[in-house]
Amino acid sequence: MTLRDKQIVVGVGGGIAAFKAVELVRELGRRGAKVRVAMTASACRFVGPITFTALTGEPALTDLWDPRYPGEVHVELARWAHAIVIAPATANLMARAAQGFADDVVLATLACANSPVLMAPAMHERMWRAAATRRNLERLTSDGVHFAGPVQGALADGSVALGRMQEPAAIADVLAREVFAVRDLGGVTILVSAGPTLEDLDPVRFISNRSSGRMGYAVAAAARDRGATVILVTGPTSIPVPAGVETIQVRSALEMQGAIASALPRVDAIVMTAAVADYRPAESKPRKVKKQGETMTLELVKNPDILAELGRTRQGKRPVLVGFAMETHDVVGYGRKKLVDKRVDLVVANEASVGFGRDDTQATLVGREGDEALPPMTKTELANRILDRIKAKL
Ligand code: CTP
Repeated sequence: MTLRDKQIVVGVGGGIAAFKAVELVRELGRRGAKVRVAMTASACRFVGPITFTALTGEPALTDLWDPRYPGEVHVELARWAHAIVIAPATANLMARAAQGFADDVVLATLACANSPVLMAPAMHERMWRAAATRRNLERLTSDGVHFAGPVQGALADGSVALGRMQEPAAIADVLAREVFAVRDLGGVTILVSAGPTLEDLDPVRFISNRSSGRMGYAVAAAARDRGATVILVTGPTSIPVPAGVETIQVRSALEMQGAIASALPRVDAIVMTAAVADYRPAESKPRKVKKQGETMTLELVKNPDILAELGRTRQGKRPVLVGFAMETHDVVGYGRKKLVDKRVDLVVANEASVGFGRDDTQATLVGREGDEALPPMTKTELANRILDRIKAKL
């Protein structure tokens, strides 16, 4: 999607990366967008409003009570915007946006927004990894905010770490590709399974795995953004489910299988990101099991392979089936074996070390046509690559 004639509000936060917001504004202009800039008070300590005024031909807004605006400037800006880009999004800006604060021109515009929002975070790695920032990131993501970066690189203190603002051209790419996503999956229903399954031993214990659910939630959100009707069947996770998708919460593999079976007649494609437990306890005891001898043997029985069953029983080419393979070695080899054994259309193969709980990932798409080794990318970008493949098969 081109940015030509798109009206973009760039909200500049107060971080050293604010100087790169200048280049972002120029880049958006080069791509034909019309840009207006709003700045927080601390952003003005890093770059002068005049710089943006000169680049955009519009006054950069720094004040909610700007006397040049007889009306409410944040309402006018939000109404004008086809999209709002926050760059750099500092930890503080993210926190205040997550809470819905509206006490400066950038936050008030965000609070009033009825167009998509893209944030390009920039902060020290420790701030990015801080529990509070994680919470705010999850909150904002589930509110539908898009993110570009941060990336690995030199930070203000000279260290090389994760926290550097994404490059301006890359932010513009994300805006074009993700935020102004072509709604090319309209009329398509996609079921996404996500998260782990929990297999109960007794009322207080279960067997499970480390799946975070992030990959599946990213696929669900990306499909939603491209106009698909999305059914998310999810095991228990600690991250918020994406807004605007039909969510079915399940616990065990058997429950997941049941939920998928009942949705099956409605779906055109199924993306199985769930880490379904291969085995469950032979018996789930109704009362808590008491400890006894020095050792204990658990008897496990095999769970149904949901994906393989879908592959075995589908009539013709619908639904399109996508599986995941998380391996510690011979990633592509095992991925190809799963493609054949489970009779699916695509296997997304990745290394166990790069998957769990991370924001970014690296995968190889293993299809009947061949393999495509993808570079490292965010889970949302990977989700869109998978959706491109699905679209081609529909
Ligand atoms: N899957 C499934 N039902 C299961 C197990 C897995 O639908 N009972 C799906 C997963 O959602 C995923 C793919 O199959 O899309 C993963 O394949 P799987 O054979 O489970 O991989 P591993 O568990 O890694 O298998 P193995 O131990 O054989 O490597």
